[in-house]
Amino acid sequence: MNILVTGGAGYIGSHVVKQLLEETDHDVIILDNLSTGHQKTLDTLEEIALHSKRGDLRFYRADLANFGEIEKIFLTNRFDALLHFAASIVVPESVENPLKYYMNNTVNTTNLIRLCNEYGVGKMIFSSTAAVYGEPSEIPVKESTEKKPINPYGMSKLMSETVIQDTAAANSAFKYVILRYFNVAGADIANRIGQSFPNATHLIKVAAQTATAARSEMSIFGTDYDTPDGTCIRDYIHVDDLASAHIRALDYLTAGNESTIFNVGYGHGFSVTEVIATMKEVSGIDFTVNYAPKRAGDPALLISDNSKIKNLLGWQPRYDDLKIICQTALAWEKHI
Ligand SMILES: NC(=O)c1ccc[n+]([C@@H]2O[C@H](COP(=O)([O-])OP(=O)(O)OC[C@H]3O[C@@H](n4cnc5c(N)ncnc54)[C@H](O)[C@@H]3O)[C@@H](O)[C@H]2O)c1
Repeated sequence: MNILVTGGAGYIGSHVVKQLLEETDHDVIILDNLSTGHQKTLDTLEEIALHSKRGDLRFYRADLANFGEIEKIFLTNRFDALLHFAASIVVPESVENPLKYYMNNTVNTTNLIRLCNEYGVGKMIFSSTAAVYGEPSEIPVKESTEKKPINPYGMSKLMSETVIQDTAAANSAFKYVILRYFNVAGADIANRIGQSFPNATHLIKVAAQTATAARSEMSIFGTDYDTPDGTCIRDYIHVDDLASAHIRALDYLTAGNESTIFNVGYGHGFSVTEVIATMKEVSGIDFTVNYAPKRAGDPALLISDNSKIKNLLGWQPRYDDLKIICQTALAWEKHI
């Protein structure tokens, strides 16, 4: 198949492209404006494609906001499936600049869906987020748990989900899988690609940056949450396990199954203190950690119920080990 991957030069998209190139025979067409994605990542993916000698890889540098340019790409190609990763993803920025998020995430996704419908692209896999649940009303969080985003980022994704679902309800030839990711971390086991965005706010990335002295210190935001050690607990998932969920989801749609939504996480979590202790252990560096006030909108606990994806897709994580997640994140940080 011809698979269009928006945001394929970014962190998660590149890990999925790597697996498509190494484990399937699909041709991959990346569409990215390189706003947070990297040419170096594309070069590495090109090497992986050459080495694996399976599907081809092509790249369009284009901005999803430019509808005319994107439509030309649909006119000159035939896509069988869309994997849509491209988005703006920084929660505090979404509070300061909500329109950036509604435009880049919701409006651009809507335009892409319109093109899928007009040009007969019948399969879509969408990168959604646990942020659609806001401060969840139950733990572990099920797909059916109430959706109540508490920031524009989460709302922009929930609105995109609604557009996808309503479109599919009206067009039986358009099928989707929505994947709601929990906390994605780590890097390619072979250390060829990883998270390269220097201003990332993700805890494990920040801890790896502090362990390698790219940052002089890091903060723990809040120590009086209702958790055993008082710090927030999150469900960290290795990016290669998340990537394999996309391959499974694509197979599921290709087999003619019905549209659906899955949580993607490990179903258990670690506290901020445990993550920092593990990063210190694997790096051997006792880096400086400060204590800072709680941030608005950080729920104490966020853990997925992943039984649906395990049962329906047969998805089995391979790297469900905080040490491996921290080791691979650290190895990548040293590399860059
Ligand atoms: N990283 C996480 O922990 C996490 C958690 C939940 C959901 N997600 C979702 O996963 C997806 C990928 O996130 P990521 O961490 O890889 O982010 P990323 O910033 O590394 O990747 C996003 C990619 O999209 C590209 N892009 C952004 N806007 C674009 C536009 N208008 N036109 C063309 N290209 C554009 C960027 O250049 C980049 O390559 C996003 O949709 C995000 O909401 C991420």
